[in-house]
Amino acid sequence: MVGLSHSAFRLLLLELGGVGLFFSEMLAVSRLPIENETVSPFLCRTAAEFPFFYQIFVAPGQDIVPAVERLHSLNAQGIDLNLGCPAPTLRKQGAGSFMSPELIKKSIATLRKATDLVLSAKIRLGPTLDETALLDFCRMLEDEGVDLLTVHGRLQNEKFCRKPRWDWIGKVKDGVSIPVIANGGIFTVADARRCLEQSGADGLMLGRGAVCCPWLFADIARDVYGIEKREHPEKHEIYFRFVELLQQRFQPERRLGRLKQFTSYYAGNYQFGHHLAASVQNSSTLEEARQEAEKFFAASA
Ligand SMILES: Cc1cc2nc3c(=O)[nH]c(=O)nc-3n(C[C@H](O)[C@H](O)[C@H](O)COP(=O)(O)O)c2cc1C
Repeated sequence: MVGLSHSAFRLLLLELGGVGLFFSEMLAVSRLPIENETVSPFLCRTAAEFPFFYQIFVAPGQDIVPAVERLHSLNAQGIDLNLGCPAPTLRKQGAGSFMSPELIKKSIATLRKATDLVLSAKIRLGPTLDETALLDFCRMLEDEGVDLLTVHGRLQNEKFCRKPRWDWIGKVKDGVSIPVIANGGIFTVADARRCLEQSGADGLMLGRGAVCCPWLFADIARDVYGIEKREHPEKHEIYFRFVELLQQRFQPERRLGRLKQFTSYYAGNYQFGHHLAASVQNSSTLEEARQEAEKFFAASA
């Protein structure tokens, strides 16, 4: 997720446990070959962040091969093609959910030829609820060489507040032979259970739920998959650990914005969390934000 699923956050998740696979935030194929991974907040990654799929988006006329070569040099375990993002920035470029069917086919063919890595694609359910069109599309992706599909159970234009259609992810799961990962609206262990029951998916991708509750992977791993329990620290300790990781992983000017973005979700854990979100939002330095958070946690203890 743009601005959220970066190296500092991934390291926090690793400490809390339960994650089986990381995806980067979406990366422009046009920029990948020129980004410096030692300083780029989009590319910086430690060896511990493994296995790791880089997510790319492709616009018409762009050359994918140099980006794939770059991802090989960055020790990718997989490449994920974004076919579902409806953001206006991607609309302008004709990328994400705005890619034409021809460009999608051509891009997958190019990717398949350029790499032996796992090739995955992330989709939504399409522009309208149309089972035949959805399955034709997914089977086309499979036939062109996609190895793994992540399905966000919402239509193209549906807002995140709308309940995701996990049963429709199940239709995809039944209609293709490749593994399907379910995404959308998983904020609790109970959601994870229901999503798996309704979709029959092979795995779960957590979006906002992971940012709100970074321990959710560990809780799901324990309660749904029976993987050993790991105690997690107190919520305020997790928050300050995240601040430390931002300091370790990013240059000073890259830290505060990312903390603000994280806090806008994490604050939802507290009854008066909007005060935390607002005070961090209004901070001019990371240190000021940290002190505001300290005051908030002391007052809510
Ligand atoms: C701030 C933000 C940034 C996102 N960036 C990406 C992205 O880069 N690539 C992507 O595939 N999805 C992106 N998404 C969508 C999420 O991956 C996910 O599909 C969506 O939030 C639904 O899952 P959730 O209900 O678990 O959050 C983003 C969502 C948010 C809220």
